Amino acid sequence: MKLFHKYSQVLCFGIAAKHFGRKHHNLAGVLFLFFVLWLLLQVNVTSIVDFARKSQYSGQNKGFGYDGNGDAILSLLKQNVSACDGSFVGYGNELAFFKNIVLNPFKNAEFVQETADKQWTAPKKIVFSDGYFSVKCKKKPSYEFRGNNHLNKWFSVTRFQPDISKTAKIEPRLTIAVERYEYANLFHSMTDFYNAFLMMKIFNSTPAETNILLLDYHPKGLLYSIWDQLFNNVIFAKDIKEPTTYNNLVWSIMGYNSPLYPCGKTPILSQIAFSILNDWTPLWMYTNSLISYLSHFKKFFLGQYHIRDYKNLNCQNLSVLFIWRRDYISHIYNPSGLITRKIKNENELSVKIQNLLKGHLVRGVQLDKLPVKEQLSLISTTDILIGMHGAALSFSLFLPDHAALLELYPRYWPTTNLHFRSMAHWRNLTYLSWQNVDYLYEKKYYYTYIPPVVLGKMVKEAQNKLCPHL
Ligand SMILES: *[C@@H]1O[C@H](CO)[C@@H](O)[C@H](O)[C@H]1NC(C)=O
Ligand SMILES: *[C@@H]1O[C@H](CO)[C@@H](O)[C@H](O)[C@H]1NC(C)=O
Ligand SMILES: *[C@@H]1O[C@H](CO)[C@@H](O)[C@H](O)[C@H]1NC(C)=O
Repeated sequence: MKLFHKYSQVLCFGIAAKHFGRKHHNLAGVLFLFFVLWLLLQVNVTSIVDFARKSQYSGQNKGFGYDGNGDAILSLLKQNVSACDGSFVGYGNELAFFKNIVLNPFKNAEFVQETADKQWTAPKKIVFSDGYFSVKCKKKPSYEFRGNNHLNKWFSVTRFQPDISKTAKIEPRLTIAVERYEYANLFHSMTDFYNAFLMMKIFNSTPAETNILLLDYHPKGLLYSIWDQLFNNVIFAKDIKEPTTYNNLVWSIMGYNSPLYPCGKTPILSQIAFSILNDWTPLWMYTNSLISYLSHFKKFFLGQYHIRDYKNLNCQNLSVLFIWRRDYISHIYNPSGLITRKIKNENELSVKIQNLLKGHLVRGVQLDKLPVKEQLSLISTTDILIGMHGAALSFSLFLPDHAALLELYPRYWPTTNLHFRSMAHWRNLTYLSWQNVDYLYEKKYYYTYIPPVVLGKMVKEAQNKLCPHL
């Protein structure tokens, strides 16, 4: 029996590898097959799979636990370490809270020009030196934040000393310190917005009583305005000119460690095991991983944009929205503005869906051309959202509760990019995806031809799920 089990696993992995090879039409598939066979000889497969499940999708390695509404984050809060008479509290090695911490900008931060080649690299960076922060404390607590985390850098320049001098400037409001990474990308910015929202929630504050302190030296970027809209006041470290005491300062969770991030930094073996499994059983991997306060986050986000008229489902008049990805200059490191994952036959698709759903509303937009508020009102009145895999689909977080998300992938983009599939899952949205496997449909300059019949079928399926009684 055991042997049979083992053989069936070999078969399974073999087929998965073949599938992988077909999709990628390159050596990778073959190498992968050998690698998997080698793996089978080395280790017990079941334990890798178990490991992949546990470490990636239960969210437990992140300390966020299971529950959907707040309990997950509460479990993180229970993992607290308090020192300095409560002036320092670290939570789950992910975030920290400080009482009466002094930020001293004099000579303690340098803003340095750097050459950059990637979109998330700052053109200039902040180099902090010892004493940038100081806290009243007898002795520096020993504490470490998880992963390759900028909070460790901040902690290393924080002086813990028995006496600190009073500053003229005092900020009593809850202030959330954030370092943005891929600041021009909506998904990554969303992880920061969500983390900051969680901090506000955990520390019992309100948007009007919460400030953001950006301890990075990125340009503002197109998404900066969102920070301004969501919170009371946003300030860059470089604009702080005098020593300031923060009565309540939070070091927010790093974007890459956000609960919104579908794949944490996991060991390569479990990532491989996961990518195999994902082609077979896309959902069970993360059925337990729910996210705290997601409905509150939606209300908060839309509320700050004064959008309160949520759409009810009207099966006589569905609203379908295509998000068109088009070449545009999102940040200074992509001066050509050439972007991947574009649709070749936008017009054909929208005519097809219009004909399919006569009397319903079918719209298509290049979202980034619109002000954020307009983007959000479009999203919050959409029943079926269709788009190529791309950061704009992060807005699925703000679709109506009954909505459907249809995600398309070109052949060259791995469906193991689970960001939006996970969001749809957490929000209990209907989710359908399709990946092109045909070479001929991939055109020059990252255009993919989407067969209208395929999309038509998907839209019909979504319609049947939303409105099963029609
Ligand atoms: C730390 O966790 C304990 C439970 O483990 C809880 O009672 C306490 O309130 C927490 N303290 C802080 C400062 O969050
Ligand atoms: C469908 O709803 C839209 C607004 O979402 C409205 O503009 C349109 O007139 C409606 N169409 C019909 C046929 O009722
Ligand atoms: C999720 O949606 C389905 C219908 O699509 C509904 O039956 C179910 O109750 C929903 N679950 C939650 C937790 O909202």
